[in-house]
Amino acid sequence: MKRYDNIVPSLFLDFMQMQEFAKDPLVFTEGAGIRLKTTDGHAFIDALSGVFTASVGHGNRAVIAAIGAQLEHLAFAPPLHGTNPAALQLTELLLRVAPPGVGAAKLLSGGSEATEAAMKLARQFHRQTGAPHRYKIIGRYGGYHGGTMGALSAGGGRERKAPFEPLGTGFLHVHPPYCYRCPFDQLYPSCGRTCAELIGRTIEAEDPQTVAAVIVEPISISSAGFVVPPPDYLSRLRQICDQSGVLMIYDEIITGFGRLGTMFASEHFGAVPDITCCGKGMSGGYAPLAAILIRDRVARAFYGEADDNVQFHHGHTFGGNPIACAAGVAVLTEILSHDLVGNARARGEHLRARLEEMAARYDLIGDVRGAGLLQGIELVRDRATRAPFPRGARPGKAIERAARERGLLLRCGDNFAAFAPPLTVSDAEIDEMTALLDASIAAAQRELAA
Ligand SMILES: Cc1ncc(COP(=O)(O)O)c(C=O)c1O
Repeated sequence: MKRYDNIVPSLFLDFMQMQEFAKDPLVFTEGAGIRLKTTDGHAFIDALSGVFTASVGHGNRAVIAAIGAQLEHLAFAPPLHGTNPAALQLTELLLRVAPPGVGAAKLLSGGSEATEAAMKLARQFHRQTGAPHRYKIIGRYGGYHGGTMGALSAGGGRERKAPFEPLGTGFLHVHPPYCYRCPFDQLYPSCGRTCAELIGRTIEAEDPQTVAAVIVEPISISSAGFVVPPPDYLSRLRQICDQSGVLMIYDEIITGFGRLGTMFASEHFGAVPDITCCGKGMSGGYAPLAAILIRDRVARAFYGEADDNVQFHHGHTFGGNPIACAAGVAVLTEILSHDLVGNARARGEHLRARLEEMAARYDLIGDVRGAGLLQGIELVRDRATRAPFPRGARPGKAIERAARERGLLLRCGDNFAAFAPPLTVSDAEIDEMTALLDASIAAAQRELAA
């Protein structure tokens, strides 16, 4: 590590105070399966797939070989003049596994590019289908759709937005579903899904002829919280969007490609969006890769004669890059040929059972929620009343520190801790991770009581 000590603070990492990070930096050098190693020889279990990304595990030989083979042929194809076989193979595969009715894909390089593209596509779609005044985008408080200005405007995380405000105009926010702590003080199902109905009322109040799209993460996990909607929330939202002519966008950058035990969250929740944003696990982290999947009825509006000028007016230099696409083809092939979606479902049940077992022993675990291999716990001061810890206590961060000391990386917010291991994970590896979490919760509990 010594070799890099001086340079570490000069590299600005995501959302990090570099002065603090430099005191005990993590510099990863090697990865195999669920395990990572750092320059100073420490080993970690990656229970978060990097950041919801290493879907087929680290050091996957088939993906490495596919990228090497592509490099031998072509590393970059001129995007203003043409495409390449890897991009076409990936598109073919994507259309095969996509939610029903998807007729086109736009290949991109990162999640923020995908959500930006989805919102631009929605606005252009309305403009060329007789509704030129539809421009507003409805997002949700606490949602995260990326770090670029448009994506940040659609997101609803106060802390991530504050330094850059004022952000884009035409973005509105509603409260997300949060049954454990309902913002409307109601109980599911007698609530009648107020959280979904309010989106309908917001569209009405704004005038449907001005609203282009609603963007939601089917399951949302960010520093603002871990939101799992009630089972019929998204199907009701689908009806509301259909009734008001508003496009429905899913940000499946975390939930796509098997994470929930189905290829996409639309299958898990039984409601298909008009545009699906993908990223992260799509390339397993082997190359920057993202996409939007476009339902045929939306895609059709973008075909015409050259003079019609209706093509999607959007592009990025690295969209459809051959290396990234070769990685995407190889990762998707791994997911399909090893039934990693089925594995996510089965291992997810095992993980859930382990967390529930722990909840029976630790009073500070108020709720266990999630789907497939995205499972987490909400931390409370008093389980009976669901009273949260006081603002400064940050029990999730105490668990994160204790877990890191024990060689476990997971996703923690102030009041939650969550797992999202590679889809290749085994039950034995889950037992290893949850045993480390168990010890970390015990340590955090002692720290919080002190
Ligand atoms: C749900 C969601 N959407 C969008 C993004 C942005 O993706 P990227 O960081 O690749 O731009 C993220 C990143 O964490 C995300 O979790």
